[in-house]
Formats: sequence, structure tokens, C-alpha cells
Amino acid sequence: MQDYQKISEALKKSEGEKAKVRGWIYRTRSSGKLAFVTVRDESGIIQVIVEKGKLPDEDFNSARKALIESSVEIEGTIHEDERAPGGREIHAASFHVIHFAEDFPITKDQSMEFLLDNRHLWLRSRKLTTILKIRSTLTGAIHEFFRSHGFYEFHPPILQPSQCEGGATLFEVNYYEDKTYLSQSWQLYAEAAIFALERVYDVAPTFRAERSKTSRHLSEFWMAEMEAAWFDLNDVTEFAKKEVKFIIKKILEEHEEDLRFLGRDPEALKKMLDKQWPTIKYREALEILKKDGMEVPFGKDLRTIEEQRLMKHFDTPVVVTHYPKEAMAFYKPSDPEHPDEALCFDMLAPEGYGEIVGGSQRSTDINELVESLKKQGEDVSKYEWYLDLRRYGSVPHSGYGLGVERTLAWICKLDNIKDAIPFPRTMSRKSP
Ligand code: 4AD
Ligand code: MG
Repeated sequence: MQDYQKISEALKKSEGEKAKVRGWIYRTRSSGKLAFVTVRDESGIIQVIVEKGKLPDEDFNSARKALIESSVEIEGTIHEDERAPGGREIHAASFHVIHFAEDFPITKDQSMEFLLDNRHLWLRSRKLTTILKIRSTLTGAIHEFFRSHGFYEFHPPILQPSQCEGGATLFEVNYYEDKTYLSQSWQLYAEAAIFALERVYDVAPTFRAERSKTSRHLSEFWMAEMEAAWFDLNDVTEFAKKEVKFIIKKILEEHEEDLRFLGRDPEALKKMLDKQWPTIKYREALEILKKDGMEVPFGKDLRTIEEQRLMKHFDTPVVVTHYPKEAMAFYKPSDPEHPDEALCFDMLAPEGYGEIVGGSQRSTDINELVESLKKQGEDVSKYEWYLDLRRYGSVPHSGYGLGVERTLAWICKLDNIKDAIPFPRTMSRKSP
């Protein structure tokens, strides 16, 4: 590894100290005897001054010749200069080019589509590098949160014989001479696991053949799910709030500067942490919408525009419970007091970001489950294994799934969910 410093470390050194960095050329220009080369690594950028006569001629010529994205190793002395990014620059004593890059295809002001076509190169941009770092903190926080609350990480199959969230968005996969599907959710398998481990979670790829081209839908996304024995709807909604608050706190601890760079004011997030996040019923949400001039009849899931309008009335995330039973997935139970409502919830983010978490108590009533499956045209025999979970020591239990990209997009205030995942998959994109 040798004795190289991260650029962020080099930027902390004082006048005259030696520095040794390596990375990629971020910007470069030269005039006569001087080359000004800005170098980036994972941690930041630093300007390098390369002056003819102060280093071997061969090095000077390389520095003049190397195009952006060439990989380089540099040794020199730190010089404090207010004009330089970060207030310091390196005066090079050696400048080695590890690889001379070809003309980099990405230049300024390119279209979203062009950048998506060149995603493998665009990942190096400061914007995506910053988002990917925050994403790593976000998933790290999820693991930390659940493990510190006595949850075990549990790995479900990704190839699954049936649906969980409705057949319409299933991806079919050839399976030898047969067919199977990509996971829409780990939930049904997590429900089997709670009888062994009681509290389980995972963060895993999830697949949905979404027909909608929106800034909120991906065909492949990551869902952080939890399932817990003995939890009821109230337990699980409060737990979800606690999780999202924990995630925000962790991101604020490590990424205030990064958030600002992305155009997200960290103070706005801090304020949300100090507040109580409300829980309202779907019927109350309809009342709020009605007063706001938007009449939605009971019986449908809330659409994006309705979620957005509702959230204009709140400045923190809100949990909405008791959606209409008939519009919900088969496993969501009826509320015994209001059979047309289900014991389920969504957490909606403010600022127009909409649903980030979806979950529910789980029906433990075999007859209700079978009836719901039949209503949805499902072949009940495929779910016999799942119904077994209600035959052998059934317990009340609940769970939810948090959309990693939806949550990240909101926290970072991104325009499009595609920037919340390294290589987005949508209806119109499956490469690179
Ligand atoms: O609300 P959903 O469909 O819930 C479930 O799948 C449950 N089985 C979870 C559970 O109870 N274990 O999805 C959960 C979350 C949504 O709130 C949203 O954040 C995200 O997953 N999500 C998507 N994110 C990006 N693109 C899509 N197409 C998404 N569909 C759902
Ligand atoms: Mg949902």
C-alpha cells in the first residue's frame, strides 16, 4: 500500500510538509513552464502545481500530456494558498502517470440519458461518489439499528414460486424446463423465519416489473425489510419511525458537508428529528384532502399526487394506517372493528417524496387469507406452505419494508430515484 495519504489527509497538512497522493486527473491546464493538475481520489480533490525544472523533465512532460481521468501518483510539498480548492496545493517533486487516459467522453452539460448510457464512467462524478457514500452509511445504519434491537439477519430466496405484492409486477424467469419469479419482497419467507428467530431483517435486491415511468419507480431496487413475532400494528409503526430517525441521525453524523454539496440543507433534517412524527388513519387523510379540494373516494390506494397534496400539510414524515382492505395485498388483515379497513401502514416522506415504507400486521386467519388469495385469482395450492405457518403455533406478527432508494432520494433531496442506485434498472433501461 506504501505511504500514500488520502487527499483529505493531505489537505490537513501544513506549509512545507511532504505529501504523497494518488488518484485520477480531475481538471488540467498548462501554460509554458507550468501545469495545473487537479487530482481527485475517493476523499476529495487537490491542486498540483507542476513546474518545469522542479522535477525530472520526463515527469513534467507527462503532466502536460495527461488527459483528465488519467491515473497518477504524485509526491511533493504542501503549499498553503487561499485560491486553491481546500486552501492547499502540492508543489510536485515527482509526477508519475500510471495510465494515460483516452479522451474522456463525458464533458459538461450532457443529457441525463447520455450520463445513464455512460453510468460506468459517470459513477466517478462528485455527485454520484457523494450519493454512493451516503448510501453506504444508510445501509450500514440499517444493519446497526436492527442488530442493536435483537434482530437476526435472515436471507430469503430471490427466486420465488409466487407473488407477494400482486401478480402484475412479477418478473418471470426461465427455470430449467419450468418458470419461476424474481423476489418482489422477502416477506412470506420472513414470516416463516419468525417462528425460529422471532425478529429478523434483511437488506436485499427486490424486483418489480413496474409499468410506470416515474422519478420514483425502479424495476430493481433494494428493500430493507423486518418481520417480528408479537409485534402489532402500533409496535411496528413506532419501530419504523425509530428506524428512519436513526438512519437520518447516522447520515447527519457523517455527511453534513456531503448533504450540502447535494443541495440538501442538513438543518431541515435535524428539525425533523426533534419532532414527533404523526400517525393518522387513511380516512383522516381523505378528510384532509377533501378540505384541500381533492375528493378521493374510500377504497383506493393513494396515488402519488394525492400523497404529495396530503404531505403539503406536514413537515415531517407521516404514518398513514388503515388503508381500504380491498385495495391491499392478500396478507393484510381486516381491522376487527372496521372490516373494510386493513391493519396496515405506509410512511410518507415530506417534500413531495411520498411513500418510503410499507408494512402491516399479518393476517393469522387462514380463511381470510384463502379468500383474499382467491379474490386475486391466485392458485391457493401454491401458498400451502405459507398457510402452514398459521397451522403450527401461529402468533401475531408484523413487519415492513423500507425502500432504500426512495429513502436515500428523499434524505439527499435528489430529483430522480435513478441517482440513488449505482446502475438503475427501469422499464426503458437495463444496461450498462
Ligand atoms: O409497499 P411495498 O410494496 O411493501 C412490501 O413489499 C411489503 N411486502 C414489505 C413488508 O411488509 N415486508 O414496498 C415497500 C417499499 C415501498 O414503501 C417503497 O419505499 C419501496 O419498497 N418500493 C419501491 N422503490 C423503488 N421502486 C419501486 N418500484 C418500488 N416499489 C416499492
Ligand atoms: Mg406500498
